[in-house]
Amino acid sequence: MVGQAPQHISRAGDVVNASQGAAARQLSVIVPTFNERDNVAELFARLAKTLEGISWEVIFVDDNSPDGTWQTVQEMAQQDTRVRGIRRIGRRGLSGACIEGILASSAPCVAVMDADLQHDETQLPKMLGLLQRGEAELVVGSRYIDGGNADSFNRQRRGASEFATTLAKKLLRVEVADPMSGFFMIRRDRFEQLAPKLSVQGFKILLDIVATGQGKLRIVEIPYAFGSRLHGESKLDSMVALDFLGLLLAKLTGDAVSLRFLLFALVGSIGLVVHLAVLDAAFNVFNYSFAESQLIGAVAAMTSNFLMNNFLTYRDQRLKGLSILSGLLMFYLVCSVGLFANVGVAFSVYGQQPIWWLAGAAGALMGVVWNYAMSGLFVWRKR
Ligand code: GDD
Ligand code: MN
Repeated sequence: MVGQAPQHISRAGDVVNASQGAAARQLSVIVPTFNERDNVAELFARLAKTLEGISWEVIFVDDNSPDGTWQTVQEMAQQDTRVRGIRRIGRRGLSGACIEGILASSAPCVAVMDADLQHDETQLPKMLGLLQRGEAELVVGSRYIDGGNADSFNRQRRGASEFATTLAKKLLRVEVADPMSGFFMIRRDRFEQLAPKLSVQGFKILLDIVATGQGKLRIVEIPYAFGSRLHGESKLDSMVALDFLGLLLAKLTGDAVSLRFLLFALVGSIGLVVHLAVLDAAFNVFNYSFAESQLIGAVAAMTSNFLMNNFLTYRDQRLKGLSILSGLLMFYLVCSVGLFANVGVAFSVYGQQPIWWLAGAAGALMGVVWNYAMSGLFVWRKR
């Protein structure tokens, strides 16, 4: 199988050669960008230099950066057909951007690398050679093998990276030394097979590929030194730890449990505390009637749930400006219907088995599943 790989690649190349008379593209380089305006031209210049003699293209996948990176990319694309840009609107996420870029490209080999020049582009020809000769199906640029390093990391970042790497390797039984690297090259056909199973959330696309392709991918690691960022600043905040746990969870449970649902349920249980606290205050301190107090408590809980979900659970699709208001109203509506579902289920369970806590729990579970499913459809719907 593996031995046939290069043949297949060159055969596909021959077809294009014959029909167009131009050299078939050998390599697509995918570069996710967010606020990298000042880096893209330099990266392109370096790629052009190191990839001389190879037929290649670069695809920048930009999430509508406020600094106008996509505009710079567009200007570059006007000047040089090797450059393409994808501008994504209403979406954020490193993994999703990489997946979209790879699927929009066409060369039999695809590389993913950062825009900020922390990855060593001079390794690309070597990576390409390994794929083309059939010696690997996935080549990982690795900081954690002999000859590689991450010396540009500060102590805190190094510690976090090492901890995450150990955790990922143990839990997902991944054999690669640096599964957290964002620098790799893969055969297109292999990627296309795995693509439907990959998570578009989060930022650990390589870990996802390695874990998903477990045992089926021939992987070779080559060392490189992780450099310093040229311009701008890192986009990875403390919240990426959450995305990382989410990916581990999804892979461990065969995609059965999503982090989003867990967060949604967690927010829901905090909401219960808010509800009781507000109910207590309204009833006992401000002397509203019980019905009024209960209503005030419910509205307070729904509002705080909405805000927490908007901040945490759906931070990649966060509603802003006026959409916060319309989203909140829709969330009230969804939760109100969810309450009927909750009470309905609890009643029917109680009818069959008069155990109050079992019926109550079944109702609450129904409510949270309903609220989750409907909020995903109507409140934080993908635009
Ligand atoms: N389209 C898109 N959308 N691109 C993004 C997003 C996003 O939401 N977030 C970050 N990027 C782009 C950046 O513009 C950059 O080109 C690349 O992804 C890496 O982001 P950085 O902000 O530079 O992250 P880093 O340097 O902290 O992290 C790097 O090191 C990690 C290993 O420790 C990345 O290479 C990671 O992939 C890598 O895992
Ligand atoms: Mn970086």
